[in-house]
Amino acid sequence: SVPPVEVLLSKRVQEMVLHGEEPLGPYICRRGEDVDEKEDIKDTSPIPIIDLNRLSSSTTSDKEREEELEKLRSALSTWGCFQGIGHGISASLLDKIQQVSREFFKQPMEEKNKYAKSVVEFEGYGADPVPEQGQSLDWSDRLFLQVFPEDRRKYNFWPQLPISFREVLEHYTEKMKMVAEITSKAMARSLKLEENCFLEQFGKQAQLHARFNYYSPCQRPDLVLGLKPHADGSGYTIILQDEVGLQVLKDGKWYTIPKDPTALLVLMADQMEIMSNGIFKSPVHRVLSNSERDRISIAMFYTPEVGKEIGPEDSLVNEDRPKMYKTVKDYADTHMEFYRRGERSIHTAQI
Ligand code: SIN
Ligand code: FE2
Repeated sequence: SVPPVEVLLSKRVQEMVLHGEEPLGPYICRRGEDVDEKEDIKDTSPIPIIDLNRLSSSTTSDKEREEELEKLRSALSTWGCFQGIGHGISASLLDKIQQVSREFFKQPMEEKNKYAKSVVEFEGYGADPVPEQGQSLDWSDRLFLQVFPEDRRKYNFWPQLPISFREVLEHYTEKMKMVAEITSKAMARSLKLEENCFLEQFGKQAQLHARFNYYSPCQRPDLVLGLKPHADGSGYTIILQDEVGLQVLKDGKWYTIPKDPTALLVLMADQMEIMSNGIFKSPVHRVLSNSERDRISIAMFYTPEVGKEIGPEDSLVNEDRPKMYKTVKDYADTHMEFYRRGERSIHTAQI
């Protein structure tokens, strides 16, 4: 018999795999007929690539910069994401943050459970809170930490092992703030707006949350997803992955994000869709499970500061493009049908 969802959520997928347990009941979210016969995770696609250095560097010619800004606008209004290169983060730091993530998840359960989250909270080690009725469980384990502003860090959830975890995460956080600043300015300029307008909406105390995802191998990738389809409730999300698995939905088709150890995937989320008055798309995405190998990803959620009221930039509202959403709640209501089908993030549904 299948244990209740709460019992399954108190287990760790990694441990179930270790004990040879098969995914069952609530983990199963796909039926044979939902699965595209041609679905091939290795068939990676033409996700736009943006050189962040070209967007910001003073050594770039005006023409080159304008071209890159136009590529950016086009990427975000069709795909809602891009592979960011030229971001200025060293290969060695990208490698280190993945290394400490791997080392954290490799530890015995007793060690990881020192940072266990409560079922109703987001912060800490474990699974997301109980999904809404009818939503499936994800074949993954995660560690979720607020990393900025510094006074909101809950260090009791920050792993003490591996020994360099904290230092590497602090360093990575600093770099993520830099990438967010460059990206927010470039996004504004690509829409012919004053370059600080989005940064001002996010606020000086804009939040960063890090989510370390561990996807164990799964014997039934045809039936079980690593992460169910959803869109993020943040402003936007910056993702580093060490293996393929993440897919974005575009024009009714799933596209796999290629593996590139030097690139950061920048993915628009719901609040950026609102600020851009719907010009930038917050894409639905999911993670396939994989029978052959495990996968690590580190997602950084960049979100406006606590209590900040955001809205569409005034100059993006006109006769041709009326205000699409007045408030975050308005946006959430518009998308409620998606939420019910589990296709949007539960974070925004709760705002
Ligand atoms: C996500 O956070 O939605 C996906 C991150 C990943 O690529 O695993
Ligand atoms: Fe996501």
